[in-house]
This record gives sequence, C-alpha cells and structure tokens, in this order.
Amino acid sequence: MTEATVGTSTDTAAKLLKEGKLVAIPTETVYGLAGNALDTDTVVSIFEAKGRPRFDPLIVHVASWEKAQNYLRDAPPQAEALARNIWPGPLTLLLPKKDIIPDIVTSGLDRVGLRCPDHPLTRDLLSRLDFPLAAPSANAFGYVSPTTADHVRHQLGRKIPYILDGGPCRVGIESTIVGWEDGQPVVYRLGGIGVEQIESLVGPAVVRTHSSSQPQAPGQLQKHYAPAKLFYLGDIDQLIQQHQLRNPGILSFRTPYPAYRNQLVLSPSGDLHEAARNLFGMLRSLDQSDVDAVVAEEVPEKGLGRAINDRLRRAAAQHP
Ligand code: TXA
Ligand code: MG
Repeated sequence: MTEATVGTSTDTAAKLLKEGKLVAIPTETVYGLAGNALDTDTVVSIFEAKGRPRFDPLIVHVASWEKAQNYLRDAPPQAEALARNIWPGPLTLLLPKKDIIPDIVTSGLDRVGLRCPDHPLTRDLLSRLDFPLAAPSANAFGYVSPTTADHVRHQLGRKIPYILDGGPCRVGIESTIVGWEDGQPVVYRLGGIGVEQIESLVGPAVVRTHSSSQPQAPGQLQKHYAPAKLFYLGDIDQLIQQHQLRNPGILSFRTPYPAYRNQLVLSPSGDLHEAARNLFGMLRSLDQSDVDAVVAEEVPEKGLGRAINDRLRRAAAQHP
C-alpha cells in the first residue's frame, strides 16, 4: 500500500470505514487503529495490521452510553454511574456482550470493553456511522502507544489508507479499564482516570493489573511497552554509575540533567497531567536517539502517577 494520507476530514474517514477499511483516529488518550467492530473481516485486518495476537481483545468505541446498550446484555448500576460521570473520557468498561459483537473482537471472552472517547473529530466521526469502532492503540504490537499522527505514520503509515489528525493527545496515556467480579469493581489497567476518582463514584475497587499466563487484559502482560533500547528505572545518577553509561538518555520527572545531551523532563512543574501527556512521545524520542541506554525515574504514586509508573515499570521489565 502507498503511504497513508494524513488529514482532518471526518467525511473521508467515514467513507473509508463504511467500505470496511481501517483509519487511525485521535482520542484524548492515544491514537487508535479503527475499523467497523461489527464486521469480522475488518476486525481480522486490524489484528493483521498491528501484528497483534488474536488472544488480545479489542476495545469498542461508541458515541454514548445509550448507544452502548445496543451491544450490552446487561450492566450493573455502578457501570452506568461511571459512564454517566466519566464518558466521554478515558474509561473502558468491561461488560457482558450481545452476540452482535463478533467473538473475534473479544477473543472469545464473554465481556466486551466499551468506551466513549473524548475527542471532537472522533465524536463527529462516530455520529456519522451506524456501527461502533473497534480500535486498539495504533502502534505495532508491544511498542509504545502513539500520541500524535506522526507517531502513527511512522509505524503504520504503509498499512492503512488514512490517518485522521486530531493533534497531540490531551491525556496521553491509555484508558483505565474497569470490570466487575461478583459485584466488586476491578481495575484491570491503570490509565487516564485515577483509581481515586473511580472509587469516589463506586466505592472501593480491587486493582489487579498484573496477571501471569492468562491475562484478563493483555495490556497486563509485564513486557508490553517495550522500547528497543536498554531501559532502566530507578535512581538516575545511581543507574548511570552502575551501568557505566557514557551516553545515556535521561527521562526525569522534574529535574533537568543539563550535563547530558539527551535528557527530557516529563514536567518541570511536577504536574502529573503534563507528565502523562509527554510520557510516550518522550519515550519514543529517547528510544530513537543514539543513546546507549535510557534511564528513567518513577513519578509520585498517586492519581495519574500510578498509570505513568505502571508504563515505566513495564518498559523496564524487559531487563530483569
Ligand atoms: O485509551 C485506550 O483505551 C486506547 C484508545 C485507542 O481508545 N485503546 C487501547 O487499546 O489502549 P489497546 O488494544 O491497545 O489496549 C486495550 C486493552 C488490551 O490490554 C486488551 O487486552 C484489553 O484492553 N481488553 C480489551 N477488550 C477486552 C475484553 N473484552 N476483556 C479483557 N480485556 C480486554
Ligand atoms: Mg495498546
């Protein structure tokens, strides 16, 4: 295929999607690789374009909680409370699906992940379609998620016809995934909505983001946001010493390291929202620079900081 067109036309995007083609879409979290969720062949082509194993299910994007009812068998009142308060927003709900959602979307699981994204272009796009959009993050499987149209073009530009360019993603980290087990809310992936906010709406939630061989959400796979470069997480100065790095790439939370050429600061003012917004883009640019290894430090373990640390730990998990 020739190089994808990058543009802002929801008309073009809608036309391609109605033909069963794939389009990269902007959301507030990260860019998605979207196709008609009700069409099995289209969904197969999503897995293929991404190089994603079929056991890793896709999130289905809808325009509203009302639209979501077309795809759900039932939902606990807590799910509705979360959707009504947080949608459109960075929250995915895992709920029992109707048969109209093909099994390949959920990798044969009984629950479908549904979310209503908060981006004006994608909301406009969804309102023009009479089907929901299955969309994983628009990166090659296992790599860092894309937060700009350009990130998508680099990895998938030759595999899809169109990238809907909605600018840099406002949240920058994937949606928080919540489901229920025996009536109890469970957080399966930390993301753009903090656990504190979920709990303020539905009470105590179990956080279960690490699972071994049978992940509920394969984003739980320990080695999932794997950069190509060696990646160390901990005390930056100590790591540089310990590994005798002469040309490290440095990703710090607030503190600049002016002695080094490749150093990026997530948020000089210590703002976790800004840090989340910068995280994947900075990981990418350090990973693609000429450094020997990337060293990073954790951020405060609260609010969005939990999701940021989760991604940093997974990035570091390739080197035990
Ligand atoms: O913010 C987001 O959620 C972005 C944007 C594009 O919406 N999407 C995203 O999709 O991060 P993806 O495919 O990269 O990650 C979705 C995660 C995967 O770990 C997948 O295993 C899990 O959600 N998931 C999806 N459907 C599921 C289901 N039915 N049961 C369990 N886990 C599910
Ligand atoms: Mg992903």
